[in-house]
Amino acid sequence: MKNNYSNIFIFNKKTLKKVINNLDNDHVAGLPTETVYGLGGNAYKKKSIEKIFNLKKRPNFNPLIIHYYDLKLAMNDIVINDNFIKLYKHFCPGPITFILNRKYNSKINPIACAKLKTIAIRFPKHRIIRSILKEINYPLAMPSANKSSNVSPTNAKDVFDEFKTKVNLIINGGKCTVGIESTVIDLTGFPKILRPGIINKNEIQKILKLKMNKKSDNKKIKSPGMMKKHYSPGIPIIINQKKHDGKSAYIYLGKKNINNKKFFSLSKNSSLDEAASNLYKVFRLIKKKGFKKIQIRNIPNIGSGIAINDRIKRASYS
Ligand code: TXA
Ligand code: MG
Repeated sequence: MKNNYSNIFIFNKKTLKKVINNLDNDHVAGLPTETVYGLGGNAYKKKSIEKIFNLKKRPNFNPLIIHYYDLKLAMNDIVINDNFIKLYKHFCPGPITFILNRKYNSKINPIACAKLKTIAIRFPKHRIIRSILKEINYPLAMPSANKSSNVSPTNAKDVFDEFKTKVNLIINGGKCTVGIESTVIDLTGFPKILRPGIINKNEIQKILKLKMNKKSDNKKIKSPGMMKKHYSPGIPIIINQKKHDGKSAYIYLGKKNINNKKFFSLSKNSSLDEAASNLYKVFRLIKKKGFKKIQIRNIPNIGSGIAINDRIKRASYS
């Protein structure tokens, strides 16, 4: 059944068939995951990978994450190790992406991996993407469904706002529960978090029974996509703001001034997980309302606050 947006569909048996038909024919689709919406295409096919890069205007040196239902298909593409197995068993399916060495005979189109010897893989948890992955016999290359450097989409209409009808099929899976992109961890050597997410360093260290040391964390950017400016709503953002300037949109945690139309609370109870899930939604809302600038109050740098601070710092970079 259609709604007002002609290319947004609810998920049912009929639209599942439509998605699969779309993907089988090397087209791409806007699909929900628990983190953010993705722009998915057959990871084995050059044609679909090129479509993804072109639609997103993504630089070709920035590799895509390959999404699987479980280990069965993934084993054709990855060189596994103990750390990976431990994290996979504990967190998957879930919001975490692993960087591993790629098997030399993997069928993943090399353009998807930006011709690197490594590969980023993820096993998403959202029931809709899992039903789709279960039905197809290839993995999906799937970056966030936004134009390069924009804010990631956290509901189906956001995907429409990014690509209008250039993507012929978007599945509405509701608001993403996590709301920010998966944690990316490099497991090709000593484990190193390349992109913080809702699964945080402490939880990972507990499972791996090791400490990821600060020094190696700060070394040269190894994730080609972790560019300084990213996740930008397209208006200036200034962080660590104690006082509202009277005219900008003011992002904060808690209930203070909740009735002020210029105040946007990420979480009334100051929950950092809830704040992470609302961040991109609030960015998009503020932009729609026509504000010219965003001020953000200090966000505690603990738990999911680390991932929030990573994103707002990049969004504020000019
Ligand atoms: O939550 C998510 O991960 C979402 C949903 C749709 O699954 N996807 C997502 O994809 O955020 P994308 O393309 O927006 O971000 C992928 C990140 C980029 O920073 C990219 O550079 C990094 O993963 N990446 C991919 N392959 C890599 C590799 N071989 N080595 C290091 N970093 C890699
Ligand atoms: Mg992205």
